[in-house]
Amino acid sequence: MGFRRTMRWALIRAGVWVSCAAISSCDGPQSALAPAGRDAARIADLFWWMSGGALLVWGAVMVAAIYAARSNREHDPRLASRFIVGGGVVFPTVVLAALLSFGLALMPDLLSPGAASAPRVRVSGERWWWRVTYEVNGRPVELANELRLPVRERSGLTLVSPDVVHAFWVPSLAGKVDMIPGRENRLALEPTRTGLFRGACAEFCGGAHAMMAFHVEALERPAYDAWLAEQARPAAAPVGERAERGAAIFDARGCGACHTVRGTRAEGTVGPDLTHVGGRHRIAGVLANDVDGFRRFVRDPEAVKPEAEMPGFAMLAAEELDALAHYLDGLE
Ligand code: CUA
Repeated sequence: MGFRRTMRWALIRAGVWVSCAAISSCDGPQSALAPAGRDAARIADLFWWMSGGALLVWGAVMVAAIYAARSNREHDPRLASRFIVGGGVVFPTVVLAALLSFGLALMPDLLSPGAASAPRVRVSGERWWWRVTYEVNGRPVELANELRLPVRERSGLTLVSPDVVHAFWVPSLAGKVDMIPGRENRLALEPTRTGLFRGACAEFCGGAHAMMAFHVEALERPAYDAWLAEQARPAAAPVGERAERGAAIFDARGCGACHTVRGTRAEGTVGPDLTHVGGRHRIAGVLANDVDGFRRFVRDPEAVKPEAEMPGFAMLAAEELDALAHYLDGLE
């Protein structure tokens, strides 16, 4: 008996410890429980209310089960049927109806599109990256795997996909929305504080699904305007002999058939626009943005993103790869 009791206490203590550890790790740049957006905050509220409701139902069932196991009372059919109707029909109906009304009441707010003056961004789920298109003076400006948005404004996103189904999700800012070929879905993001938040694809879509990361940075309005104006400019000319050689290799190897570098003759649209690739938070959404990151990705994209459509360039000499990486790193 003593041993069993000791074991039971050890298990309870371990359970509490693990739960605390799990909850304390629900922080950071990609957590629905550390909201930094108006919609995410509503959804987190809903989560806690739902959890409270579930706990209430679970508690009631446990009390009933323990009572039934320990009770020596004579079976009373009338009391039993009252108990079944009360605990099995009325109680769950009331709790679930309350939770449902609470959830439904949130919907109009979550679907509201925001002011016309707020940014409008089109995001397309590609295999396996994110094509992000802003509009500046009526002209599209494309970037990849990264959005920047003004804080405290409700930006409107149009979510599309040319081929397979993805789901766009920035847990810290809002709920997830599917990107379905042939459809245009809408989502609004309204960051409540500045910062860098991580997003992910939330629908299994293929080889590099788990590597389909992207970043959303919330900025004050002036910083956002300055950043967007910079993104709309053509690419910086390569600086230094090595970067110039890299630009020549980029041109000679036909990289421009798939990639655009605005201001050069590279005008491909199959892959990500690289005009300001060196200034992004990450390469391909996942690698550190430095010369080594470019070297790794260009040499073997498949190693970073399984089933990547871009061919590897392992046939380049180390010195050529290095020059190319320096050129791309300089495209800020
Ligand atoms: Cu895209 Cu999963």
